[in-house]
Amino acid sequence: MSDPREELTGLAREARVLLERERARGRAYVTLAGRAMQPADTGPRPRDEASRAQVAPLASSPDPFTPHSFTADSTTRASTIALPGFESLVPSPAGLSVREDLPDDLGTLARLVSECRKCRLCETRTNTVFADGSVKAKLLLIGEAPGRDEDLKGLPFVGRAGQLLDKMIAAIQLRRDEVYICNVLKCRPPENRTPLQDEVDQCMPYLEQQLALVRPALICALGLSAVQALLKTKSSMASLRGRTFEYKGIPLIPTYHPAALLRNPGLKREAWEDLQRVRDTLKAQGAS
Ligand code: URA
Repeated sequence: MSDPREELTGLAREARVLLERERARGRAYVTLAGRAMQPADTGPRPRDEASRAQVAPLASSPDPFTPHSFTADSTTRASTIALPGFESLVPSPAGLSVREDLPDDLGTLARLVSECRKCRLCETRTNTVFADGSVKAKLLLIGEAPGRDEDLKGLPFVGRAGQLLDKMIAAIQLRRDEVYICNVLKCRPPENRTPLQDEVDQCMPYLEQQLALVRPALICALGLSAVQALLKTKSSMASLRGRTFEYKGIPLIPTYHPAALLRNPGLKREAWEDLQRVRDTLKAQGAS
């Protein structure tokens, strides 16, 4: 029989080679799909029970974003491991830089946005909607654009979708005042229509500056508009979610927009998987 210490040394060497290879490819993280061990775990479950747990409907719990139901769905989890050299909470300065053509403090930037007339949305808005939450946040959530309630109050995610977003944030043991919430567009599109490309193009510099000034450890893109605008892709949400991307050196996790979850509660299971990915990535970075 081989010496277990030699086997362990060999395994560690192989793991290091694999991780170094991923790092050399420019990847900041590796994601391990699988079942994360909980403190209360006593060992592997019989195979059929484990697989049943993975597909069990959440019908028994009224809402997968209420605390009591989290553990019911915690049998499958993707763990994200920061690769050597990417552990720092401060994203690579080369990737995320403060724009020189815009104010370098968030208060002044918000005032500039409140006077913006770069696109026709300024004609129909009541208020611009800049952001809510903490400027020291490690997690930054980005939605699409203000709706009616947000336009009236001047704050993001304060309507029905916002109430669900609060539950989603609470589900990963964070409070709204601990995260930073903003949108791709700062003004409400009439009848909440999808943002037009030229509106996104005009508004993106504001978002880029917000990202550069907050410097979050992790971005969560809520819905297709946000993820497409940030990653400059036309891919579908189904093909984008469940993965960790990078935006200028910052990990970016896409998930469904809370309004989509209100329209189609069947998507909540996948959204909960994404939220666990968010939570685990923050943990892997030492940011929670
Ligand atoms: N939907 C969004 O995308 N953002 C908000 O602020 C509200 C609803």
